Amino acid sequence: MKKIGFIGMGNMAKAMALGFIRSGKMSGDDMGAFAPNQEKLMKNAAEVGFKSYADIESLIDDYDVILMACKPYQIENVLAQQTSKGVVRDLLAGKVLLSVAITWDLAKYAPLVDPSTRVQYILPNTPAQVCEGVFIVEKDNTLTAEEAQWLEDLLSACGTVVTMPAHLIGAGSAVSGCGPAFAAMMLEAMADAAVKLGVQRADSYKLAAQMVVGTGKLMLETGQHPGVMKDAVCSPGGTTIRGVVALERAGMRAAFMDAVEAASGK
Ligand SMILES: NC(=O)c1ccc[n+]([C@@H]2O[C@H](COP(=O)([O-])OP(=O)(O)OC[C@H]3O[C@@H](n4cnc5c(N)ncnc54)[C@H](OP(=O)(O)O)[C@@H]3O)[C@@H](O)[C@H]2O)c1
Repeated sequence: MKKIGFIGMGNMAKAMALGFIRSGKMSGDDMGAFAPNQEKLMKNAAEVGFKSYADIESLIDDYDVILMACKPYQIENVLAQQTSKGVVRDLLAGKVLLSVAITWDLAKYAPLVDPSTRVQYILPNTPAQVCEGVFIVEKDNTLTAEEAQWLEDLLSACGTVVTMPAHLIGAGSAVSGCGPAFAAMMLEAMADAAVKLGVQRADSYKLAAQMVVGTGKLMLETGQHPGVMKDAVCSPGGTTIRGVVALERAGMRAAFMDAVEAASGK
């Protein structure tokens, strides 16, 4: 059983830590974290069960797998940071470094870390917290076969693992990584409409959220084309087709396409 040390414990790291525990693959005792805001870190440590660290060098000392979970623009400074035990990038020598920061793939890390640091880029999403995550893993990595297998076992217990070359990960994560925000906006809007029509708020959210869960599950399990699924709900002259026409008039498809393209950074 490998243990994981998190550098940064924000929204994504916390969702992953909770998912790892929920999957049964790890316990809080198998994880530690360092983050600058110690008060917030300790609150999360009490909630999730991981060990909190007051300095980054002690964290790196204690774990062979380090998950870099701060913001992309912070990473160069973190790697170059001088600590009481040396520069962070040197302390990572011989360790596994899991990168979840968007754009921080193997090619970006390679010139900045010791050659003995074994790197894997992963683009997760927040539903990892409930073991319904999507983890896009970069095809190229420098993990040993045993480390890659351990990671595959861990991530697949927390959701779906999809392997992609680095150049497609930005596009993929615009759907799976950013998509939870788009889906949440859609849920809120549909629920608001139901509330306007008199449905209780709590019931509206339940209807909308389970509808999305169920539609995704139906598509994954049957392999049906989304157009076929849509047609199956639209009776001739019925109510659903009226809603479909309203969405088309509002430019719903183009809006989602624009959102994914914008979020991909292209
Ligand atoms: N959120 C998502 O859905 C998602 C999806 C895919 C990938 N990601 C990636 O996950 C990473 C984190 O995103 P997030 O949404 O979790 O952001 P976040 O909630 O802002 O968390 C960032 C974390 O980094 C810590 N941090 C800041 N400066 C640091 C330093 N110098 N050394 C160590 N830790 C430091 C922060 O600590 P303090 O709070 O103590 O300042 C905080 O715990 C990003 O790189 C992002 O690209 C996020």
